[in-house]
Amino acid sequence: MKNFAKFSIIAIFIAIGFTLYSCNKGGSGNEILIGQFASLTGSEATFGISSDNGLKLAVEEINKSGGLLGKQVKLVTEDNQGKPQETQTVVQKLINRDKVVAIIGEVASSRSKAGAPICQQNKIPMISPASTNPEVTAIGDYIFRVCFIDPFQATVMSKFALNSMKVKKVAMLIDQKNAYSTGLAENFRKIFTQMGGEIIEEQKYSAGDKDFKAQLTSIKAKNPEAIFIPGYYTDVNLISIQAREIGLTCPLFGSDGWESEKLTEGKAKDALEGSFFSTHVSTEDPNPKIQDFIKKYRAKYNSEPDAMSFLAYDAGMMLFDAIKKANSTEGEKIKNELAKEKDFPGVTGNITMNEQRNAVKPAVVLEIKDGKFKYKETIAP
Ligand code: PHE
Repeated sequence: MKNFAKFSIIAIFIAIGFTLYSCNKGGSGNEILIGQFASLTGSEATFGISSDNGLKLAVEEINKSGGLLGKQVKLVTEDNQGKPQETQTVVQKLINRDKVVAIIGEVASSRSKAGAPICQQNKIPMISPASTNPEVTAIGDYIFRVCFIDPFQATVMSKFALNSMKVKKVAMLIDQKNAYSTGLAENFRKIFTQMGGEIIEEQKYSAGDKDFKAQLTSIKAKNPEAIFIPGYYTDVNLISIQAREIGLTCPLFGSDGWESEKLTEGKAKDALEGSFFSTHVSTEDPNPKIQDFIKKYRAKYNSEPDAMSFLAYDAGMMLFDAIKKANSTEGEKIKNELAKEKDFPGVTGNITMNEQRNAVKPAVVLEIKDGKFKYKETIAP
């Protein structure tokens, strides 16, 4: 009898423990936990801060409108400091410790590539707001994105260089350990050449380098009509200044990785005057959805949104839509609904998931004038 009593008490404790555990999966009884990994610090901190701000707006809105499946959404954000290694640690934490039901992240392709295999293995749907390298979503059927991919971005900038900038002889400066940069350079090389352009010089750097003069001097010796730099804003800021210092006067052009208010800081404001880059949205777009978003964003953060803010907001909203349709927080059911998303009305345009779980959307080209980004043209897929 004594043993039986002991056994019963243990059994009751196990049962209570199990119940608590199950309720806690994905949040307490009245919460749904969504994870996010972002570079809130480090050399691309504006990427993380902008996307975090955008996603928080989405969470606030869904909760105001009554939440999801009768519960409130709670966002758990982890800072990966802009490091792939740290990304793996924080994604593990989000899944194993916090038991989030889905994950939003990241902006930078190399970090999305570090986090995605862990999400895939654990059957936790992941949506990247802004990673454009094709390999990100190729990692598996739980990995999605709400933006276009780099073969398209390379086409956009090839067309723009040839038709609008009217340049044919182009040099490239590539961030050699950054999957985004090398992938985009490869696509640009192929497409620009096919369209009749010529790559007359290629040089490499590593993110975080401070001195680019040797590479720029080699480029100058070939006398290019323009330089394509598929890199991130912190490096492009320094590159532009040093290019002018050594007497390179040709226009520079690049891609969405340039987008940050920090791009044109200091002497880069003048150095980048008349340069161009492709990205996902223009804040000058009169579309009321875009303008309303800008108003909401300013009111909450007292700052200006950029592409990542818009895209992270859309990623959050599309995830909530899929959870609603799945009527469940089970990873597999959410993933099935995400894969079916068609014409989801995002702020950045209608979002349809194609077979590869990528969105097919137009790109915009912006021109740098007086340190500000001015709308130049839209290029459709
Ligand atoms: N597309 C970039 C990447 O894949 C990230 C990025 C998106 C940067 C949008 C700025 C704006 O690494």
